[in-house]
Amino acid sequence: MTIRPIRLFGDPALRTPARPVTTFDKELRRLVADLTETMHAAPGSGLAAPQLGVGLRVFTFHADGETGHLVNPDLDLSDEMQEGPEGCLSLPGISAQTPRAHGVVAKGWNMYGDPVTLEGTLLKARAIQHETDHLDGILFIDRLDTRARREALREIRRAEWFGQDTVEVRLSPHPLDGRRA
Ligand code: NI
Repeated sequence: MTIRPIRLFGDPALRTPARPVTTFDKELRRLVADLTETMHAAPGSGLAAPQLGVGLRVFTFHADGETGHLVNPDLDLSDEMQEGPEGCLSLPGISAQTPRAHGVVAKGWNMYGDPVTLEGTLLKARAIQHETDHLDGILFIDRLDTRARREALREIRRAEWFGQDTVEVRLSPHPLDGRRA
């Protein structure tokens, strides 16, 4: 397992829709291991393959005391919504109240190609939605209303990392209750 650099906002890899996984091989298992280790080191509550520059539909999550991963996710969202703070390892130090579905049922595969279903509410549901968005080139700031997004973009332009390509994972100076993903 290797801790790998996380791509930052502005990197085209974060805006490129990822391809479905078709081969459940050793490479995929290495990717899941690297995602898991990099997520824990950050620390974050989730990490998606495009954040490591890999255009495959794979993410890991760490929420409600559970660490897991999902390949080729397909989400079923609750009608009930939640509002809560959200951040992203690709936008260090930036967070905003972000609307999400309260609950999610996520179907997909594990790294061995077995079908799996993940269910969660609140933080876990938020992490699964956030990571699946990454696979479609969507960032949490895209889920904000115009005014909140404008404020987030202002903060991004002021951030010391803005304009850099990647950030080496280190102990974060900006803990956000583990809600960064
Ligand atoms: Ni993120």
